[in-house]
Amino acid sequence: MGLMKEEPTTVLSAEQLQRFQTEGSIAVPDFLSEAEVESLRSSCYKLVDEMDPRVHTPTSFSTVGQEQVEKHSSLNKIGHALHWLVPEFKKVSFSDKMKATARQLGFISPAVVQSMYIFKQPGIGGEVLPHKDCTFLSTKPQSCIGFWFALEDVTVENGCLWYSPGSHKTPTERRFIRNPDKNGDLLIFEGQADPFDESKYLPLPVDKGTLVLINGQVDHKSAKNTSPKSRHIYTFHVIERHNTAWDPRNWLQPTPEMPFTGLYENCP
Ligand code: FE2
Repeated sequence: MGLMKEEPTTVLSAEQLQRFQTEGSIAVPDFLSEAEVESLRSSCYKLVDEMDPRVHTPTSFSTVGQEQVEKHSSLNKIGHALHWLVPEFKKVSFSDKMKATARQLGFISPAVVQSMYIFKQPGIGGEVLPHKDCTFLSTKPQSCIGFWFALEDVTVENGCLWYSPGSHKTPTERRFIRNPDKNGDLLIFEGQADPFDESKYLPLPVDKGTLVLINGQVDHKSAKNTSPKSRHIYTFHVIERHNTAWDPRNWLQPTPEMPFTGLYENCP
């Protein structure tokens, strides 16, 4: 008989889980090993190296067709299927500890719906305005949780996350959807913008390797990178499928080429 590989069952402490319920966001230090961080960084560096800026959305580059070194310092982000298409990202995203974390968060049949690598380069990495992720990734009932990984030390200066503790208890009607009016813009916002109170936001500076969990209903934002250092992060979003409906109007819809990928049933 073969040995069954046991999943670690406890990643988050009782205190971390409690805090996540109360505040809507927590930092879990040392979640990724140094080797995992390096594998994601070097895999992404290779992807960018092999990318031809004349083919891949030239608007993402400030200087099209110049030396390769330009690409590494001018790219803002890569999305949205790294977790599925790039082996190093797949390995981390579907690891046993990721599954165990999702179980502790109460997911019964979670799926990863999108992923991104964000560079937030010095001088380029702009501000992300306050929002709730469920505006973009809505389910009924809301179930989205963002998994966000610091691949470098993240500070107030290089544009850390800021969040409003407890704001996940206030739902939003704001949605980013495919425009039913085919004559208008492809994607539009619907519903009132949420009220924004600057004074309620706390910064969340974290060390390299830290996992930040972000409830889909928590108000968060990030500032411009005003430092000379980049702020590389990897992030993906998980939603519940059990007794939960994906909003058919969401801008993001699964396709045969890019399905929503079950977290528990897929292997690294
Ligand atoms: Fe977000």
